[in-house]
Amino acid sequence: MERQGSAKVIAKHQPKQLRTRRNDHGAGRMNIQPMRELVRRRGNYGVDAPYVLSGFAAGGVVLLGAAAISTWVVHMPALAGVCLVSAAWMFAQVASYLYTTRRGKFVVWAKLLSAAGLRGDERIVDLGCGRGAVLLMAAQLVPRGTVTGVDLWRTIDQSGNDPELTRRNAEREEVADRIELLTADLRAVPLPDDSFDVVLSSLAIHNLPDATARDQVIDEAVRLLRPGGTLFIADIRAISAYAERLRHHGMADARTRGLGWRFWYGNPFVAAKLVTARKQA
Ligand SMILES: C[S@@+](CC[C@H](N)C(=O)[O-])C[C@H]1O[C@@H](n2cnc3c(N)ncnc32)[C@H](O)[C@@H]1O
Repeated sequence: MERQGSAKVIAKHQPKQLRTRRNDHGAGRMNIQPMRELVRRRGNYGVDAPYVLSGFAAGGVVLLGAAAISTWVVHMPALAGVCLVSAAWMFAQVASYLYTTRRGKFVVWAKLLSAAGLRGDERIVDLGCGRGAVLLMAAQLVPRGTVTGVDLWRTIDQSGNDPELTRRNAEREEVADRIELLTADLRAVPLPDDSFDVVLSSLAIHNLPDATARDQVIDEAVRLLRPGGTLFIADIRAISAYAERLRHHGMADARTRGLGWRFWYGNPFVAAKLVTARKQA
């Protein structure tokens, strides 16, 4: 029943997708979805590391309380001023965090994936896909391909994390026909060597407990990628270490770069960066 329902929705939107695809084939190399279609999300993707956001908000409230006490109870206006400025900083971080997790990261990934030159028939894996923010966007770009999401669905890392929610999001985004979800630890992914054209990962690998564990995930990413395939990892920590490990594996063109303010989790000190690399053919 569910399958029939989603097939119906796909049919309803087909003319628009086909029209776009013809235009882009004319251009010779572009994918089939315009940026604004990719950024427009229909699913519900939750909040990354929700306890961090709650921490910023709670800090802001406590500082506001301290400002009130400094003003009206202990009569220390200078201290009240410091508390107010600090509270404003906390609420600014809440705003930045909320923007990034609900909108900014989608804009950034839409740009990255649009520029990836996908043909539309690739096999893609997303390591630590969570509720599908990147997984399902990638799926929109490969109507003749498959996209596999691997995760342990930890709710500490993303609110409401659950494969059932990811599946529901896939239906809302009209890509349920091409996604597969796999419950597995990123350190040992039970999928064959050289089996993907593209490996993606967004904000997942830093959650591993130490550098050895993170290296194991990078090793798995390289193993899963076919010769000639491309890898994109965005993360808020250890990007240079990932690049170094990729070079150690002989990956070509391993490069890192910042992803801008849209991918700041509260402030510029918690900014996501990107590493890209290609497996030698
Ligand atoms: C912050 S969420 C990001 C999810 C998704 N990539 C996104 O950008 O919305 C991090 C994800 O990594 C997953 N994760 C953390 N450690 C993992 C592990 N050892 N194996 C598999 N998944 C893991 C969590 O369950 C969570 O879904």
